[in-house]
Amino acid sequence: TNVKPAAPYLLRYSSLLNAGKSEASPLLLFQRSFFSRTLPNLCKDESNGDGKGKKENEESAKKDEEMPDDGVEDVASQTGEQSSVVTRPVIRRPSTSISLTNPSTFQQSEKRIISPDEVFPDEVPIIPLYRRPLMPGLITPFTVRDQDFIQQVVKKEFSRSGEGYVGLFLVDQDVREGEKITNATQLRSVGCLGRVTRTVPVNADSTVLLISGVQRISLHDIVQYDPVLRGSIEELANKNVNVQDTMIKAYTMQIVSTIKEIVKLNPFFKEQLQTFLDQVDIHNPAELADFAAALTTVPGTELQEILETLDVESRLTKVAKLLEVELETSRVQMKIQKEMEEKVSKAQRQHFLKEQLKAIKKELGLEVDEKENLLEKFRSRLEKKDIPKEANKVIEGELSKLQMLEPSSSEYNVTRNYLEWLTQLPWGIYHKDNLNLTHASKILEKEHYGLEDVKRGILEFIAVGKLTGSVQGKILCLVGPPGVGKTSIGKSIAHALNRKFFRFSVGGMTDIAEIKGHRRTYVGAMPGKLIQCLKTTETSNPVVLLDEIDKIGKGYQGDPSSALLEVLDPEQNHNFLDHYLDTPYDLSHVLFVCTANTLDTIPRPLLDRMEVIQLSGYVADEKMSIAKRYLIPEERKKAGLTAQDVAIKENALKVLIGQYCREPGVRNLKHHIEKIFRKAAFKIASVEEEHGERSKLDIVHSNLPDFVGKPVFTSDKIYEKTPPGVVTGLAYTPMGGTTLYVETVTDPTGHKSDINVTGQLGDVMRESSRIAYIFAKHYLPRVVPESRFFETSNIHVHVPEGATPKDGPSAGCTLVTALLSLAMNQPVRQKLAMTGEITLTGLVLPIGGVKEKILAAKRSGMKTVIVPEGNRKDVEELKPYVYEGLDIYTAKSYDDVYRVAFSQGVVVGASPLSLPTTKELKEAAKQSEAEASSEETS
Ligand SMILES: Nc1ncnc2c1ncn2[C@@H]1O[C@H](COP(=O)(O)OP(=O)(O)O)[C@@H](O)[C@H]1O
Ligand SMILES: [Mg+2]
Repeated sequence: TNVKPAAPYLLRYSSLLNAGKSEASPLLLFQRSFFSRTLPNLCKDESNGDGKGKKENEESAKKDEEMPDDGVEDVASQTGEQSSVVTRPVIRRPSTSISLTNPSTFQQSEKRIISPDEVFPDEVPIIPLYRRPLMPGLITPFTVRDQDFIQQVVKKEFSRSGEGYVGLFLVDQDVREGEKITNATQLRSVGCLGRVTRTVPVNADSTVLLISGVQRISLHDIVQYDPVLRGSIEELANKNVNVQDTMIKAYTMQIVSTIKEIVKLNPFFKEQLQTFLDQVDIHNPAELADFAAALTTVPGTELQEILETLDVESRLTKVAKLLEVELETSRVQMKIQKEMEEKVSKAQRQHFLKEQLKAIKKELGLEVDEKENLLEKFRSRLEKKDIPKEANKVIEGELSKLQMLEPSSSEYNVTRNYLEWLTQLPWGIYHKDNLNLTHASKILEKEHYGLEDVKRGILEFIAVGKLTGSVQGKILCLVGPPGVGKTSIGKSIAHALNRKFFRFSVGGMTDIAEIKGHRRTYVGAMPGKLIQCLKTTETSNPVVLLDEIDKIGKGYQGDPSSALLEVLDPEQNHNFLDHYLDTPYDLSHVLFVCTANTLDTIPRPLLDRMEVIQLSGYVADEKMSIAKRYLIPEERKKAGLTAQDVAIKENALKVLIGQYCREPGVRNLKHHIEKIFRKAAFKIASVEEEHGERSKLDIVHSNLPDFVGKPVFTSDKIYEKTPPGVVTGLAYTPMGGTTLYVETVTDPTGHKSDINVTGQLGDVMRESSRIAYIFAKHYLPRVVPESRFFETSNIHVHVPEGATPKDGPSAGCTLVTALLSLAMNQPVRQKLAMTGEITLTGLVLPIGGVKEKILAAKRSGMKTVIVPEGNRKDVEELKPYVYEGLDIYTAKSYDDVYRVAFSQGVVVGASPLSLPTTKELKEAAKQSEAEASSEETS
């Protein structure tokens, strides 16, 4: 509906009446009261300026009788309630003119002595108006909250007859709204006499008065301020009401036509006002002007000006101007409204059309509701899965949430993604383990050469699983130098068990969210690696390889190793809580395999939960076999070659392993073989291009450098022959065992009798060198009693390579030997390497990594190795291929070391450990087999 604020009085009135449950429409009432005074005027003598005085016209009376309020009044007056007449001061109109006009009506009016149109009181309660004055001829509802007024005036005076008079005056401009009037000057002198035609109590402290404007009045004086404002008043008559005046006529017509224009623009009042205007007599310019002025939305002061203008012509002039402005405002308002409507309707239309299009598409089967599709998809995914109660609750909640959401909202996408994850996870899906031992051992043998210990460990592990029904709750940790096959054997475990395999490297991981996921509140949030792994492998029991676990980082985003702990701990991981998933997932069926180069940097609590399997480096023979059986065929195939095209001869391979690839693992060897085949492929391809046929290429010792360049210079080999003061030690690093040299020289310029140490040595090794120095000082006199070497020399000890940090006590023996060798100026036995911690009293203590150290000694071509007596057991447990070709001596105290190191040829007073050779072992095995069979037969 269109609501136009052009006629506020009418509007407010209408709402009031609705509240009062009146049946009459507001405008009709208005018209009646208007007519009741307007129409008689039109008939009366125009020359009489005081138009209000003669209202005995029959029509007027008739109209008045139609008014319900008037009717009530009539009854009251007719029953002769004289008291009300007496108590109320009234102005009695001169009745002469009335009687002259029509004596019979006069008679009638004599009976109705308080007919409102005839007599007005000369003293009335005053209602100050704060916004707009009331114009004569208009009706307004007026809410009274002043309790004094309600008690004194409304209840006492108005209630008897149901009506009364009030004077309505606009307050002066500087009186604030609600301010009490204390002085007559605070009110404008011209106001409107209002007849209260009805009082409606709204609630305990407010009453609504329905006031109709009767007549212009002027405020003579204020006769009472408290408790109720009362004033004496005088009527004001219109001036120059000459209807025949052309100017007045013209203005009247102008006003009527402008009102018509306004009405045209305002459909709400159109119909009723139209009727009214058709009936209005343009010969009644004074009241027309008042009515028109009240229609406008001008401020109170301007309206007051109209009220104060008694001269009809100038009133018409002013009102005509006001109406013009009003019309213009209406036009602008209309325009704005139209524009708004257009805008809104355009959007509405589009929406409507889109909805229709959707409906049509659906009807034609062109497009099924996307959301329904999605929900269907999610539900079908869940069908064959065994979802835990807790997760199910979350999923159901999210599904119903998705149904409610608008597809264009961001929340929708978040929920959708979340559901994608929740429904894609392999809840309750498990691969059946293959716990057949022969199958497992076959696969392990097929995929890896050697590694007996590891394979045995894995088979044992599977055997336990077979007996207990599952391999649950175990974490394997494969530790060893790079390139020895840790990662690839992890994969083989999955093959052997017939499980899915997932590998992720935790090396360098610093963000805990990679394991535990991001909370869903983040944009682009994702679950952690483990949940991702379950999604990709589509099974709840894959083999998960946590690669490089010793290199796990520590970031500012929390400690990833603590998250790993939660993942690996069998006590916790059946309730693994990913931040994104936000509902627990059972990881206890996952078989975790970790790999590491060293155990040192693995957080202790993590290590405690793992079953460690050591992989040591390979010796040359093993590398040879691995190369022949796995690396060469594999790489040859990758290069697109066959055995007929290229062959790497045994002697070439030996050189390759012995001089190019001496590290414990085989990754470097693999790269070299790859390089050889790449170059070979190029040669073969270019020859084929030239001659049109393939030729066979043999790679032998002599042409090897063509393919892989000159042998790289390695640190193990910086001395072909060790001079006095230089001794070979053995060290164990995460990259495997290695040889290292201890060099000592005297520094003639330095302080006397002191030792200087360089080579990035750690605290333990520094201490160890001090101990060695003290011990050597004491030991020297026992072998060369006259030597004053240590007292007179400043010694410098260095351990190359200087850039590699080194630490540990195991170089103790080596340091002592190097110092003694320097002191005696005597080189030690060639191709000798040693390891062992030394105490101040010269005891040799056991050390770790014996196998790696012995392998390293063998790799760098040593002949004799000294190990602490405490490590004898470790040596005896080794496979013959590890120690074959080495003389291994054990040392209890430094004397044992000295005996071997400073003698040439056969060692007097000691002999190397007698260890079984491969041949002997084989024979022994054969023999025991034969014995067993003979026992059986007997
Ligand atoms: N015993 C072995 N038998 C066959 N191949 C091996 C063996 N050890 C290592 N390899 C191969 O050497 C390469 C490097 O092994 P990898 O598992 O990556 O080492 P790591 O993880 O211990 O650093 C792989 O191609 C692997 O197949
Ligand atoms: Mg690896």
